[in-house]
Amino acid sequence: MAETVFIKDLKDHVGSTITIQGWMFNKRGGKNIHFLQLRDGSGVVQGIVYEPDVSEDLAKIAQELTMETSLKVTGEITAHPKKEDVFEIQIREIEVVQLAHDDYPIAKKEHGVDFLLENRHLWLRSGKQRAIQVIRNTIINGIFEHLNSKGFIKIDSPILTPNACEGTTTLFEMDYFDEGKAYLSQSGQLYIEAAIFSVGRCFDFGPVFRAEKSKTRRHLTEFWMMDAEAAFVEHAENMQIQEELVIHVVKKVLADNQKELEILERDIEPLKKVEGPFIRKTHAEVVKELQEMGSDIKENDDLGGDDETLLTKKYDKPIFVEKYPAEVKAFYMKRDPEDESKALCADLLAPEGYGEVIGGSQREDDYDTLLGRVKEHNLDMKDFGWYLDLRKYGSVPHSGFGVGLERLTGWICGTQHIRETIPFPRLINRLNP
Ligand code: 4AD
Ligand code: MG
Repeated sequence: MAETVFIKDLKDHVGSTITIQGWMFNKRGGKNIHFLQLRDGSGVVQGIVYEPDVSEDLAKIAQELTMETSLKVTGEITAHPKKEDVFEIQIREIEVVQLAHDDYPIAKKEHGVDFLLENRHLWLRSGKQRAIQVIRNTIINGIFEHLNSKGFIKIDSPILTPNACEGTTTLFEMDYFDEGKAYLSQSGQLYIEAAIFSVGRCFDFGPVFRAEKSKTRRHLTEFWMMDAEAAFVEHAENMQIQEELVIHVVKKVLADNQKELEILERDIEPLKKVEGPFIRKTHAEVVKELQEMGSDIKENDDLGGDDETLLTKKYDKPIFVEKYPAEVKAFYMKRDPEDESKALCADLLAPEGYGEVIGGSQREDDYDTLLGRVKEHNLDMKDFGWYLDLRKYGSVPHSGFGVGLERLTGWICGTQHIRETIPFPRLINRLNP
């Protein structure tokens, strides 16, 4: 029995006969030769069946293999005659695990995105889609690695909640036994704010839900957010923490996922420029700049998607847009002591037209002020009493931010729409598969 190895490790097996197990995703060939394109999740390799060298049985199997057939292939590993670091397998034996039906829907030809999304369960197998998921995994690990090294520990926040976190967005609601309505969390922020009084610095990382009817390339109804929160951290340091995190993650992807970035045809020059300090501009400055560029944005408007695209196309570094008008931001944000109409917040916009990937702020830490905001926003004291308690018992200045994993992945991978960055996207018009 030959040893079974992963395709990614083939370089260590040149000259030996080994087995790989996976799928055949394509087949080319001539009269008596078959080039089988094989993948096993860890990589791809070409297998060669040269009929004069093999048994009639093997030749017949090779002839009849259909796309996506699962199989175990045994043969000798050889170095590619021309390409460095590319290997081939000279096949001596094929064990078919399941001969795929011969109507695999995703053929070589171009498909529209609707068709691909209908077939997301199969589309995920494609080289580009795999590359995006591998990079997403690196980003997740990079975030854990960096935050842990900076003393943040993971604290899981609940998904079923009695109230809204972001007053600015819409909630998915459901009946919850005798307790009335429950809502799917939009962000775990309020809960990890409670946890900093226990652990100092923490983060959560999980799915969040937004029911607003946004149909843009930047919106999903279910996406993954990493909320981080830290005691005794104020606005400027909050941005510094985000900057270091993003630099770490981008560097890790550049180091670990060269192959995947190549498969995605991602121009890595802009990613190499992701160094500190990032650009920092106030909302007021950005509004002026956008108006000069032709946007009809007004002084107290939030940045629209088109504004973010316009602005970030101009720069090749991430941009912090600070101090938005408080009226367009959430109730919990601390106000700028220099101008009470502004929030001590920042959105981090990714360059190259990508736009917001992180939203964060310093939090209001004074009991009476926050109570006033809760009332102004008509929030129910029944739901927010616990949150106000945090300002009663050892309140401290604190800040945090939320990273949208799909937005970050979309930018780093260079994908046009973030729906490709999550395995099974949920959009207002898509719940299947
Ligand atoms: O800016 P947002 O709404 O901020 C919060 O929810 C804060 N409570 C986070 C915090 O301070 N802990 O969302 C944070 C990020 C955005 O910057 C964006 O990257 C992403 O989440 N995001 C979305 N991603 C995909 N689809 C949507 N509908 C998104 N809405 C926000
Ligand atoms: Mg935001």
